[in-house]
Amino acid sequence: MDWGMKNRLSKIIKPKTGRSVMLAVDHGYFLGPTSGLEDFRASVTPLLSFADTLFVTRGMLRTCVDPNTDVPVMLRASGGTSILGKELLHEGVTLSVEDAIRLNAVGIGYSILVGADWERDTILDFARYVDEAERYGLIAMAVTAVGKDMAKDARYLALASRMAAEHGAHMVKTYYCEGFEKVVDTCPVPIVMAGGKKIPELDALTMAFNAVSAGAVGVDMGRNIFQSDSPVAMIQAVRAVVHENTTPKEAFQLFQELSEKEARAGKKSSGVAADDSVKV
Ligand code: R5P
Repeated sequence: MDWGMKNRLSKIIKPKTGRSVMLAVDHGYFLGPTSGLEDFRASVTPLLSFADTLFVTRGMLRTCVDPNTDVPVMLRASGGTSILGKELLHEGVTLSVEDAIRLNAVGIGYSILVGADWERDTILDFARYVDEAERYGLIAMAVTAVGKDMAKDARYLALASRMAAEHGAHMVKTYYCEGFEKVVDTCPVPIVMAGGKKIPELDALTMAFNAVSAGAVGVDMGRNIFQSDSPVAMIQAVRAVVHENTTPKEAFQLFQELSEKEARAGKKSSGVAADDSVKV
């Protein structure tokens, strides 16, 4: 990895803690106006100062994110299918490396569909994308997407994550599962945990805590933040877990305190002013 690439990686994974809270808000690329992101700008803007990196599509970045933001950006580079189609798992390239660089991205995220009918296409396209990314020093993160009929267990996720690394991924984003240590221990590049469907806040904080305890460098979390009743409080609680190893119980307490404070201030929907006490 050359200087430029190492520097970009340091924008994502903070050198001070070796951890990262990535905010995933790319869901519209196959789901359209996902619950919690209907008004993208209003939902995402209050969260930006608490995110180490924003994972987003180029379209929403251009139209709904203030270019004066100092949050590093990682762009979704695969897609082309929707929740309505028959081939949701047959994604292809949706973004050129040139446009990613024009948009000042530190990296890209690309889904590989190991075990699905179209696995070969997605893996070969990803490998080609890595070649391009390497040429310009962009970080390529593989997303081990999982079809709804596929098992999200350690055996599968370790296989998919390792394959991603073998094909050149600089980072891997995958789901949490029982025995997550196996997924982390057999993958030579940093792993971030995707949050998955919305679950109660304490459960999501526990999952994030377990993931980093097992060796993940952090999270790339979306629905469990932006679909929370108090997204600004939730992202700060996630930060406390990821960057400070705060226990799930203490982080949940922090979530409740911040969310009550937010409600008292009458700013529940627009968020509270950034509280740097838990921001690294
Ligand atoms: C999945 O591939 C999407 O791109 C999301 O970025 C990812 O699932 C993380 O978001 P969530 O925490 O909502 O699962």
